[in-house]
Amino acid sequence: MKFFVDSADVAAIAELNDLGMVDGVTTNPSIILKSGRDITEVTREICALVSGPVSAEVVATQADAMIAEGRKLAEIAENITIKLPLTWDGLKACKTLTDEGRMVNVTLCFSANQALLAAKAGATFISPFIGRLDDINLDGMELIEDIRTIYDNYGFETQILAASIRSANHMKEAALIGADVATAPPNVIKAMANHVLTDKGLAAFLSDWEKTGQTIL
Ligand code: E4P
Repeated sequence: MKFFVDSADVAAIAELNDLGMVDGVTTNPSIILKSGRDITEVTREICALVSGPVSAEVVATQADAMIAEGRKLAEIAENITIKLPLTWDGLKACKTLTDEGRMVNVTLCFSANQALLAAKAGATFISPFIGRLDDINLDGMELIEDIRTIYDNYGFETQILAASIRSANHMKEAALIGADVATAPPNVIKAMANHVLTDKGLAAFLSDWEKTGQTIL
């Protein structure tokens, strides 16, 4: 499973990238707001750091304006993926922009039918939002499973980008189901390294080592 970082925090992306854990980056208008940076500047910086796809989201709601914004965002760098909302206009823009050979990430997907339409419109990535479904007592992971089944039934090449990931457990479940990509904030990716038995075991080893009176260096 590829890891995308769901953030515009350049330092945090760089730290993970140095460990080989970044296959791409996703941003959205809320993430840009949180960064306090200019969208073009911060996205350009991220694109220079990360060689994989970097999603930058349009804010227009009509297809023609989405297409114009998408083309403008794509000028930032070669690895820009244009992020479009899953609306009828978003699907129209998706078809046009992918026909031009551009990468498109269709976002705000909350149903298998929406994902099916995005694949038909040629989306490079579909972003089902797990956490936001869980927030309203629906099963976000079930949606990932349904999309996996449908895409595999028909050989759609659109990649499933599990989004709105809130926990390390979401990462594991998305990987088990076979999501192509998972995008998560840096703290969630780092939390995947944690285990209480690792901490307990390490504390015991260090305590016993101290009793040996030895040093390694
Ligand atoms: C991904 O592309 C989205 O920007 C992101 O995962 C949304 O996550 P949230 O629901 O935690 O805001």
